Amino acid sequence: MIMDFLELSKSRYSVRGYSSRPVPEDLLGKVLESARVAPSAVNKQPWKFVVVRSEEAKSRLRGCYDREWFATAPLYIVVCGDHFASWKRPADGKDHCDIDVAIATEHITLAAASLGLGTCWVCNFDVPSCKGVLGLSDEWEPCVIIPIGFPASESVPQKNRKDLSEIVSYI
Ligand SMILES: Cc1cc2nc3c(=O)[nH]c(=O)nc-3n(C[C@H](O)[C@H](O)[C@H](O)COP(=O)(O)O)c2cc1C
Repeated sequence: MIMDFLELSKSRYSVRGYSSRPVPEDLLGKVLESARVAPSAVNKQPWKFVVVRSEEAKSRLRGCYDREWFATAPLYIVVCGDHFASWKRPADGKDHCDIDVAIATEHITLAAASLGLGTCWVCNFDVPSCKGVLGLSDEWEPCVIIPIGFPASESVPQKNRKDLSEIVSYI
């Protein structure tokens, strides 16, 4: 599947229903590699990517975000940020962890889309339980859960976005 970047960006959408078809290892490897090469502030790479694929771990993770569609995913990547390792801007102390994690996460979703896989950003989950499921130490925050799999349905929702004229200014 060859797409230019605009086409790829438009093809990614939040998939909320997955087929039971497993995600091939080579595709998962490509998705993870795309996260590895993401940029980060001062190249701190304050992240780790926990692949949740054992039946036991999946079932526990599903308890952190109790939605029927979420439970259909054959695997998950939990993107975790290290707030101790991330760059803090000297001028005001701003922690860039969330920005770095967001970039790596979007690499994951776009890489997955380029390979025909569906994903959905999930942040509205129970963070303390997720930390417990993953066995994370204090410095790590599970920031985003990305379910990954082949979409159950072929129907693609319309993009609902503001018009460029509302969000771009030229000075
Ligand atoms: C930071 C962030 C958090 C999100 N959290 C959730 C979530 O917890 N559950 C969910 O179903 N969708 C979640 N979404 C998906 C958004 O609802 C979705 O990206 C948005 O409505 C645009 O739709 P699209 O992804 O299909 O283009 C999240 C997206 C982002 C970027």
